[in-house]
Amino acid sequence: MSESAFHYRGEDLFVEDASLASLADSLGTPLYVYSAKAIRANLEAYEAALANYPHLVAYSVKAASNLAVLSLIQKAGGGADIVSGGELFRALKAGFDPRKIVFSGVGKSAQEMAEALKAGILMFNVESAPELMALSAVAKELGLVAPVAFRVNPDVDPQTHPYIATGFRESKFGAPMEESFELYLKAKADPNLSVVGLDCHIGSQLTSASPIKAAAERLAALLGRLKAAGIELKCLDVGGGLGIDYKGEKPPTPLEWVAAFVPVLKEFSGLTLILEPGRSIVGPAGALVVRVLYDKATPYKRFVIVDGAMNDLIRPSLYGAHHAIKPVRDLKRPQAQVDVVGPVCESGDFLAQGRLMPLAEPGELLAVLGAGAYGFSMSSNYNSRPRAAEALVEGSAFRVVRARETLEDLIRGETV
Ligand code: LLP
Repeated sequence: MSESAFHYRGEDLFVEDASLASLADSLGTPLYVYSAKAIRANLEAYEAALANYPHLVAYSVKAASNLAVLSLIQKAGGGADIVSGGELFRALKAGFDPRKIVFSGVGKSAQEMAEALKAGILMFNVESAPELMALSAVAKELGLVAPVAFRVNPDVDPQTHPYIATGFRESKFGAPMEESFELYLKAKADPNLSVVGLDCHIGSQLTSASPIKAAAERLAALLGRLKAAGIELKCLDVGGGLGIDYKGEKPPTPLEWVAAFVPVLKEFSGLTLILEPGRSIVGPAGALVVRVLYDKATPYKRFVIVDGAMNDLIRPSLYGAHHAIKPVRDLKRPQAQVDVVGPVCESGDFLAQGRLMPLAEPGELLAVLGAGAYGFSMSSNYNSRPRAAEALVEGSAFRVVRARETLEDLIRGETV
């Protein structure tokens, strides 16, 4: 179970030893808050699970890409899984050793490839023949050799939301299993490429290990075939995807997750085992703190209107995702069934619908939990709303790690 750092002391909700009320009072709302201790503990759970194998925990930067979060993970020994030139830039700024960076994604541009190649990253997870050709051309141009792993699509059902399932053969991700062997032969024959690994990522918010085990079986078969053909690899990347408890789900622990697929791959235990977790590292470690603006009752429904919206946290709107919402002061009060909504002009703007919860009054604070992953990183300026501030808490100390955007930030780069 991932570490969550949010707990009540008396009536007050705390993150580590800092009260959310004091954070919100001094930093304003909406506010993202992360616990350094929880992030470290969640990373450590992976490190411990993999301790007996050569390994790399490459944190999936897209989940929460604030420099302070990245720096914390880098200092704790993690690597980075990136999907863009922007994430490469962040990862290097945060001090990651390039040899601990893997580059995933189905649409890397030539420029992004060149930057990553010059930086000296560990490997490119290549997803198609045209991408391989593009990478080879970039490497040739630079006079460098590109380290390549193929991301294969193992065609397993990851049993998750369709928008975040990637392991079906119909998805845009990964090279089809039947094509991948040919891709390896092609790469091996190319002097601009060096074949170093095999990769897959089947989806996100997985709450059972059986799909990853099924994927590992497919990978093992391919590894066997490659070995027989004289293609020896150095790295095996099984992606991210381990889910967290949003609503009573009981996902495996990192230890159980690893134990599900390692036996299937035991013949290849000399390979460096790479994981790309995102959500399970930062998700439970973060919350979005919002303030109640209005309690709006109509003859049909009751709305708690708060100052955080779909532009701050899009998961409920986009995936129908459930996030627990807790009062920052847990006073005894009547429960009511409400929609928690933001000020954005869309009916799809909600943080919760039909939720039975203690009725919060205007001015009160609410904490939207499990918001550390894909919260701030998916936020936008829709409705010309400045993006929220981010704060990192350690014990009772906290620091603003991203200032709240100003109105001037909203129009930066624009001209009349
Ligand atoms: N590796 C690759 C290649 C990925 O595409 C992803 C996530 C990960 C690793 C990390 O997966 P995680 O451990 O976080 O499950 N915005 C969605 C999730 C999108 C996931 C995209 N890929 C959400 O809020 O649920």
